[in-house]
Amino acid sequence: MAHEKFNYKSLEEIKTKVDILGLDIRFDEDLSVLKTPVKVGNRLAPNSFCVLPMEGCDSNLDGSPSNLTARRYLRFARGGSGLVWWEACSILPEAKANERQMMLTSSNRDQFKQLLTNVRNASAERFGHGFRPLHILQLTHSGRYCRPKGHIAQPMIIQHDPILDPRSGIAPDDDSHIVSDDYLRSLVEHYVMSAKLAKQAGFDGVDIKVCHRYLLSELVAARNRTGEYGGSFENRIALIREIVQAVRNEAGTDFIIASRLNAYDAHPYPYGFGCSEHNMWELDLSEPLALAKIMQTDGVDLFCITAGNPYFIQANVTRPFDTSSMGIPIPDEHPLESVQRQFLLAAAIQQAVSVPVVGSGYSWLRNFVPYAASANIKDGRASVVGLGRSSLAYPDAPADILKSGFMKPNKCCITCSKCTQIMRDHGITGCVVRDSETYLPLYKAARADADSREKCFQQERGKL
Ligand SMILES: Cc1cc2nc3c(=O)[nH]c(=O)nc-3n(C[C@H](O)[C@H](O)[C@H](O)COP(=O)(O)O)c2cc1C
Ligand code: SF4
Repeated sequence: MAHEKFNYKSLEEIKTKVDILGLDIRFDEDLSVLKTPVKVGNRLAPNSFCVLPMEGCDSNLDGSPSNLTARRYLRFARGGSGLVWWEACSILPEAKANERQMMLTSSNRDQFKQLLTNVRNASAERFGHGFRPLHILQLTHSGRYCRPKGHIAQPMIIQHDPILDPRSGIAPDDDSHIVSDDYLRSLVEHYVMSAKLAKQAGFDGVDIKVCHRYLLSELVAARNRTGEYGGSFENRIALIREIVQAVRNEAGTDFIIASRLNAYDAHPYPYGFGCSEHNMWELDLSEPLALAKIMQTDGVDLFCITAGNPYFIQANVTRPFDTSSMGIPIPDEHPLESVQRQFLLAAAIQQAVSVPVVGSGYSWLRNFVPYAASANIKDGRASVVGLGRSSLAYPDAPADILKSGFMKPNKCCITCSKCTQIMRDHGITGCVVRDSETYLPLYKAARADADSREKCFQQERGKL
């Protein structure tokens, strides 16, 4: 169906559009289910809202939170979500996606600890001392998207990929970027160390990130890789299993192990996970479902389901939008179809496992989010509603929904992709539209820097 921008003034209008498109998205005006606490491992999230992991690319160079990072998490804390899923935090310096990516080390652990204390105090001040949201830290290795210093990409790949390699500047015969089995094996202890530090800093748990085509996400689709970690399904998931089991051994049972999982890559077979052999747009969830079940058996207490590759041309699969960031074409599908896909993926995993699943991809629905969230939870299609861009634009949305039953349309995210654009321009990101005093100048500065880099690059090429 043709792409359209959001243009619905009432719940009836959006329901009519869903019917016209023949989609399976339900809305329910009884929002009481969103107040329900959710048991995660041995702990309790006080309601069914989750702030999804949203990188600000604003940490200090040692990986510790800066004032801007702290500001973001304090805003989330005052917003009323029962679960705060902290952004990508690198397990190693070389694994960072940008030099300002978060990284927890023994030297900066106490800064994280202090921020968590401040964040918990902020929640308690606004909602009372009985209100204690869960805080999960996302542990990542950026793999193909490593850019640990400055503007130069330093990809670390699992296998060659004829579609993604040219975009990362990797020649088909250049194997120097492929990580060895020994390197992969050595990562287990770094995940364990990061989880140990996260527990010491006061996090309720960690996320072993397997999404968006970063290292572990590329690994689960490594059908062409030879050796211990490639080829068969068992080999491709072996490292994830080793990591989960090792973290569980180290952290004990009173610590949440979560995983943000791509159930579908929107990438052609054999390179894509969750995609049919015959048509990349058709889902084949046999492997994602099997992986989720195995991960639960190995000790995962919580999943967050997502999809796609936000760096690639089908960025709408991850983040349904009205306006794309530069270089990303307007897709051939209606954003409601992209939203539906996210909902169906979460539903499939939720129905396969007995631990809670957080759904993604709601922000495009603006002020109609709560009704879709309520319907999904009542229908057993997710246990928790995850809000990404909505949390940057309108961090207080959960508090407003739980108190007054609606979101204010003039505070909602308009899915303009400007926060994504800042990331692509290697800047510090946040909501350019609803938090413009802070982020509009940063958006303009990052655009100007990117433009001048591009001009220099063109001049250099002209000289050659
Ligand atoms: C600026 C920005 C930063 C993001 N950072 C992360 C991240 O650190 N980890 C992650 O798993 N997803 C990240 N995402 C993806 C979001 O968590 C979420 O999946 C996506 O925005 C779709 O949800 P939404 O429609 O509610 O925005 C990021 C998205 C944006 C726009
Ligand atoms: S810049 Fe703000 S309004 Fe635009 S997509 Fe990002 S969060 Fe939404």
